[in-house]
Amino acid sequence: GLRKKEVNVLCLGLDNSGKTTIINQLKPANHSNHLGPLSEEWKHVSQTQAQEIVPTIGFNIEKFKSSSLSFTVFDMSGQTRYRNLWEHYYKDSHAIIFVIDSGDKLRMVVAKEELDTVLKHEDICSRKLPVLFFANKMDLRDAMSSVKVSQMLCLENIRDKPWHICASNAIKGEGLQEGLDWLQGKVS
Ligand code: GTP
Ligand code: MG
Repeated sequence: GLRKKEVNVLCLGLDNSGKTTIINQLKPANHSNHLGPLSEEWKHVSQTQAQEIVPTIGFNIEKFKSSSLSFTVFDMSGQTRYRNLWEHYYKDSHAIIFVIDSGDKLRMVVAKEELDTVLKHEDICSRKLPVLFFANKMDLRDAMSSVKVSQMLCLENIRDKPWHICASNAIKGEGLQEGLDWLQGKVS
């Protein structure tokens, strides 16, 4: 049959924003119907492990497929000391997912600085690659709305690339499919 189109997605954002949690939700291996007939005991173990997500060191590469596309996701560490790795992957990326912790008001300005640095990089600025934003952790009581997050990041200033923002709760998986559907439409 036809080979699925290969799409490289770069997942960026500050540390603790929820990148790895989001990507884990998108991986089919994490969905219980793919785990097979596990005993209750094993189900418990795998669910516990799924919740224990540790800060990413450097980056991880994850692959998953949709009906028409074959995704390779570069899940980058958001820690300050690893952010200089991001730019090495700009050239080969077809899309960016940028994750924001909607509850982290103090660091919203840092997130904006990092986003601006990405967008003005020579390997990004001249290209029309789609940027999907997740205003994540919408479940937090003091989370900012996606409209507020997009104002804080001045997203309306992005005029040369298609972009979209979704509120998400990565722990429950809410809002992720809407974002992924948008992204698929832009890269296929
Ligand atoms: P780095 O790898 O260090 O860059 O962080 P990351 O962006 O990959 O964040 P990670 O997925 O490790 O999540 C950080 C913490 O936030 C974890 O304790 C997650 O359980 C938690 N978290 C992720 N998404 C959500 C969410 O939607 N709501 C809440 N309340 N917590 C979340
Ligand atoms: Mg991570």
